Amino acid sequence: VRPAAMAAERALAMATCTAPVNIAVIKYWGKRDTDLILPINSSLSVTLHQDQLKTTTTAAASRDFTEDRLWVNGKEADVGHPRVQACLREVRRLARKRRGGGEDAAALSLSYKIHIASENNFPTAAGLASSAAGYACLVSALARLYGLEEELSEVARRGSGSACRSMFGGFVQWQRGERPDGTDSLALQVAPETHWPELRVLVLVVSGEKKPVGSTAGMQTSVETSPLLKHRAEVVVPERLAQMMQHIRDRDFEGFGQLAMRDSNQFHATCLDTFPPIFYLTDVSRHIIALAHRYNAHHGHTKVAYTFDAGPNAVIFALADAVAEFVEVVRRSFPPATNGDQFVRGLPVGSAALPPQLEAAVLTEPVPGAVQYILHTKPGPGPQLVDDPSQHLLGPDGLPRSRA
Ligand code: DP6
Repeated sequence: VRPAAMAAERALAMATCTAPVNIAVIKYWGKRDTDLILPINSSLSVTLHQDQLKTTTTAAASRDFTEDRLWVNGKEADVGHPRVQACLREVRRLARKRRGGGEDAAALSLSYKIHIASENNFPTAAGLASSAAGYACLVSALARLYGLEEELSEVARRGSGSACRSMFGGFVQWQRGERPDGTDSLALQVAPETHWPELRVLVLVVSGEKKPVGSTAGMQTSVETSPLLKHRAEVVVPERLAQMMQHIRDRDFEGFGQLAMRDSNQFHATCLDTFPPIFYLTDVSRHIIALAHRYNAHHGHTKVAYTFDAGPNAVIFALADAVAEFVEVVRRSFPPATNGDQFVRGLPVGSAALPPQLEAAVLTEPVPGAVQYILHTKPGPGPQLVDDPSQHLLGPDGLPRSRA
């Protein structure tokens, strides 16, 4: 029984899903088709656990709605945004195709207007990839509403490139594809979230400021001006992608971490090679990079690996047994300015004392308040259906419920 079909007999049909954030270890930067969102290179990411970072979206359809409407984090937003419209159009097209063109009386009418409400369980302003989770969640909720079961990363891609990777859990590749229509530019799961149980992720939130240049505009300038980006897409990424897949399959943290750091650095090098140049890393970001290298050098191997997207926050990969010590290193390097009790959030972190030799080799003059907080998380699953109707973000009237 398709829930949407059943619900169509009622005045209102509704579906709620959650979707995860992902962090790329082989970065996507640059489009060959800006309308279809087709990338110049394949990319690979780790899906983060939704217990710490997730978007929740409710989509509703009713014959009583007079216009499409959208609310993001409780505020009405522009439902006419071309990328929202592209996702809506594609989902409806698939629903129509599924019904073989004919109108199925029991099925939810495609002519009904829809209401969508979306919320993040993390501050949008923190600069944590919210568009990837947002579009993955939008597409998942719409698909549920219309009873679609097919592969939908191609649709999520139309919202935001990186969103296609949030359609799966664990380790996910977005293959660039060859076809001009984008039908082979899809996300594929490389390994599920259970594949590497010891892997942990620390998000070091260094700034609440909005990034200077959005990734969409930034990457287009890079495509037009950076010869390094061209070399990266044609030569470097194809080699690295194969290597990275092997490191993940082998659960080889040394190889995985080294390559993640190098690829983050090359992405930021292409930003500097863009003209006029784009700067996402700040002094604090660079401070964290240097700290990670001193820490690894002290241990004589790769204990932590950093990666940075289009913003100053650091995402650190580590194995579970290294987390407590590195968190202490971060706490000592960036002593919390206020609410020190909330400095570490998410999964619990044990306490660790730093050996004097480590202190001497790794710590430098502390920079108080430079890191706002640390979020401890791990790889997690893909989008989830929320069964409990009390969790819908829209009420029976199709309007956002008052938020607690
Ligand atoms: C640096 O997916 O946000 O995070 O496709 O224009 O929406 P659009 O860009 P977006 O770019 C993400 C860039 C990145 C690297 C990555 O996630 O692979």
